[in-house]
Amino acid sequence: MIIALDGPSASGKGTLARHLAKALNLAYLDTGMIYRALAARLLEAGSDPADSEAARRAARVLTVADLERPGLRREEVGQTASVVAAIPEVRAALLELQRQFAMRPPDGTAGAVLDGRDIGTVVCPQADVKLFVTASAEARAARRHKELLDRGEPSIYARVVQEMEARDARDSAREVAPLKPAPNALILDTSEMDEEAVFAAAMRIVAARTPSSPAQGPQSPD
Ligand code: CDP
Repeated sequence: MIIALDGPSASGKGTLARHLAKALNLAYLDTGMIYRALAARLLEAGSDPADSEAARRAARVLTVADLERPGLRREEVGQTASVVAAIPEVRAALLELQRQFAMRPPDGTAGAVLDGRDIGTVVCPQADVKLFVTASAEARAARRHKELLDRGEPSIYARVVQEMEARDARDSAREVAPLKPAPNALILDTSEMDEEAVFAAAMRIVAARTPSSPAQGPQSPD
């Protein structure tokens, strides 16, 4: 079973993906971390993230160990990630890694949850369940602001709004794999929902789409 969760930043898709993976015993891949890891490598090397040749070279040698790099959640890394993510050759170089994870999830799990921007549209168009998780710009900015403060990082709300708008615009406007719902994705607007409500709604959708999944609850003997 493959569950594809796409959506803009701070829409709640990461939290939802983790909950779903745990509840359904599926592997989880946060594909944003792949772009962040690549961005971190380029920042560390002092390369220009818009230099497609350097980015493509770095994408080719990216390993799973890179996803463990410290500081990947930093805003500077997120912004740089969205610059390198717009380079078609970079996306192509990272596609196989993501598909391999979906088709052959680690630890012998029966499937995977992937979250990102183009999982339902490009990486796994055959996914069993596709959700586009979104929320109002205000709700997302408030969440990101709180997340930064909770992590002990300085944060100015107005700046968070600005940075989020810049990243959303870049992710939605790029030519290759832009942020948009897959034609058959269900839209889940989490603006007014807490984590539990989002999880419950997603579990209902999964159960409806995959009648034999554990999300359906215990099956009757016949
Ligand atoms: O955590 P947040 O939602 O803020 O960002 P992320 O999921 O970690 O993604 C960071 C950046 O990577 C995004 O702004 C996208 O530009 C890029 N990305 C992408 O292009 N495709 C994906 N499947 C995942 C992330």
